[in-house]
Order: sequence, then C-alpha cells, then structure tokens
Amino acid sequence: MSLERTYAMIKPDAVAAGNSGKIIDLIEKHGFRIVAMKKLRITKEQGEAFYAVHKERPFFNSLVTFMTEGPIVALVMEREDAVKQWRDLMGATNPANAAEGTVRKLYATSIERNAAHGSDASETAADETRFFFSSSELL
Ligand code: RTP
Ligand code: MG
Repeated sequence: MSLERTYAMIKPDAVAAGNSGKIIDLIEKHGFRIVAMKKLRITKEQGEAFYAVHKERPFFNSLVTFMTEGPIVALVMEREDAVKQWRDLMGATNPANAAEGTVRKLYATSIERNAAHGSDASETAADETRFFFSSSELL
C-alpha cells in the first residue's frame, strides 16, 4: 500500500492539560512521519467553516466554542493507510467507548472534549490540510 496523508489536531483540552507532547510521541511511535505541525488558535469564523458539515447538529455552537477556547496543535502526517490508522489510534468519539491505549481513552474527558481530531477520508484530509497550511509548509 502507498503512503497516505491525514490531517490531525490536538484539541484545546489536551493542549491546555499539557498532553501535546505525549500525543505527538504516540503519533511518531505509531509510524507516522510528521509532514507539518504548528500551534495556533482557531478563530470563530474558521471554526464555523471547518465544522460546517455539522452546522445543523445540536452540538455545533458548543463545539465551535470549545475549539476556539485556546490553542490547538495542527498536524499533517504520513504513513501507509494514514486516515484509518490515525482514527484507530484516536479511538471512538466518545471516550467511554474508546479502546485501551487510544488517545481518547488516555486523554479525552467527554464526547466533546475528546483531545484529538482526525480527517475521515483522504479527500477531506487534503481539504483540511489546505485550510491550515500552505504547500510550502508541507515538508
Ligand atoms: P473529529 O471530527 O473531531 O475527528 O471527531 P469524530 O469524527 O470522531 O466525530 P464527529 O462526529 O465528526 O464530531 C466532531 C466533534 O464534535 C464533537 N461532538 N460532540 N456533544 C456531542 O454529542 C458531540 N458529538 C460530537 C466532538 O468534539 C467530535 O469529535
Ligand atoms: Mg469527524
């Protein structure tokens, strides 16, 4: 299988709790090569645009408020089967259902404050990458 890229975020809860380094360590130990990485604070407008797919959902406003409450770490990462491998390493959206050893089991505190984001498909990953990074930042 060929190399694939995915887009990831360490969410504000995990950054504020000082868990970024531990999550990046898990990512590298899991065989991902970090292609790009930066710490930034998402604006309300960016948050609404990034999560536009969820705009009719009851949790939309709360999700945007959460994602803009403090800095995130944005990453582009590469390995074989990267989209699925990162979603598997993150674990289920609700940490109550997340498997042992996953990022969300280790660091999430609720279904919303769940420590990490991962793209759901290769095409989405490319769109989400363009949203936060210019091509010259992908190394
Ligand atoms: P993500 O997009 O962040 O990687 O997470 P996901 O695919 O596992 O979950 P998704 O359904 O796309 O939901 C996006 C994020 O919205 C928050 N959420 N809150 N209160 C709720 O019921 C609820 N459901 C989802 C979570 O932060 C989730 O990751
Ligand atoms: Mg999602």
